[in-house]
Amino acid sequence: MADRVTHDPQIAAIIEKETSRQEQSLNLIASENTVSRSVLAAQGSVLTNKYAEGYPARRYYGGCDYVDQAEDLAVARARKLFNAPYANVQPHSGSQANMAVYFALLNPGDRVLAMDLSHGGHLTHGAAASFSGRLFEFAHYGLTHDTQIIDMNQVADLANSFRPRLIVAGASAYPRIIDFQSFADIAASVNALFMVDMAHIAGLVAGGVHPTPVGYADVVTSTTHKTLRGPRGGLILGSDDLAGKINSQIFPGIQGGPLMHVIAAKAVAFNEALAPGFAGYQQQVVENASVLANGLMGRGYHLVSNGTDNHMVLMDLTDRNLTGKEAEDRLGRAGITVNKNTVPNEARGPFVTSGIRIGVPLITSRGMTPDAVRQVAELICDVLDDAATVHRVTSEVRDLCRQYPLYPGDD
Ligand SMILES: Cc1ncc(COP(=O)(O)O)c(C=O)c1O
Repeated sequence: MADRVTHDPQIAAIIEKETSRQEQSLNLIASENTVSRSVLAAQGSVLTNKYAEGYPARRYYGGCDYVDQAEDLAVARARKLFNAPYANVQPHSGSQANMAVYFALLNPGDRVLAMDLSHGGHLTHGAAASFSGRLFEFAHYGLTHDTQIIDMNQVADLANSFRPRLIVAGASAYPRIIDFQSFADIAASVNALFMVDMAHIAGLVAGGVHPTPVGYADVVTSTTHKTLRGPRGGLILGSDDLAGKINSQIFPGIQGGPLMHVIAAKAVAFNEALAPGFAGYQQQVVENASVLANGLMGRGYHLVSNGTDNHMVLMDLTDRNLTGKEAEDRLGRAGITVNKNTVPNEARGPFVTSGIRIGVPLITSRGMTPDAVRQVAELICDVLDDAATVHRVTSEVRDLCRQYPLYPGDD
């Protein structure tokens, strides 16, 4: 795996322990994944030593010949992967990608329509605690009461009454396909700009198992570390006419020197996503999520929208005598890592919640296929049904983890 930290035993020990934790637990956090050794190597390379404020061939520092080549490659591969005319690979994170786009397209106080946080949206989509909610005026749409899919009638009504400058589609906790065409039509009907934040589903889009927002949205933002299976970071895609504005909002607008080691690792990850096996991986992700959903529902658990089309499910525990926090803690004791999550019309606070979000990208990267995923679904239900099973489930989790190593071949 990555080079050992030889001169700092304290940090070396922490990395060792975290490596074991990752190897010996079933990580079902929908926004996490495991990267290839090549991505790890690029990110741990000497490119971290280099300052390169600016963009390729237009830097504020000398010595940028090779990092320019890395960034050019990352941009070219991102454009090819998503069939996009323009890409900026410098955002340090998904939040910074969103911030730069808002700053490029909006003035402070402008109106934005986005998905409600408790219905699956993200903090940067106008939550009061985020810069987005402080600097812009947001209205929020959510899910229908009955089918629990995005309420496109509400989106259209709010677009008409609220008259946003920008409409945002994309979510952190939404298990269904998003209809980009309908969003684009609504945005056009009220003369609003349209942005898609595909952070969660970027890998599915690249693998052809979720429709692409490119071509429908004026701008697309993303992270590179979730289903896309790259290093932790952000990405912006769009048309050439917005390139100048967006580039200058990333640098010098909100960032300084780009993380060239991360940009090189993004290039490696994009190349992996362009390779033939990637589509198969994403197909497996979607199949595994559907197997998981059926397993959980078969044991009587309610899932938001009654299932999934993508890489995650959202379990609603409102009708159980269990909060999201208790479920997360209990599963954690059995070596199964999930995160508590708000559910539509949530009655509890964000630190307690009534749901958990469960995703399969990482266990799919470990090689799990439906048989193993069915077993995972049973183990989750056993633990949620009865805390007395934790001990037995822990040992089954360990066995599964041994069968599906994070980095096969490592000792
Ligand atoms: C939809 C969405 N957008 C943006 C982000 C922010 O990404 P980051 O954590 O890299 O800032 C996330 C992360 O969870 C997300 O789910």
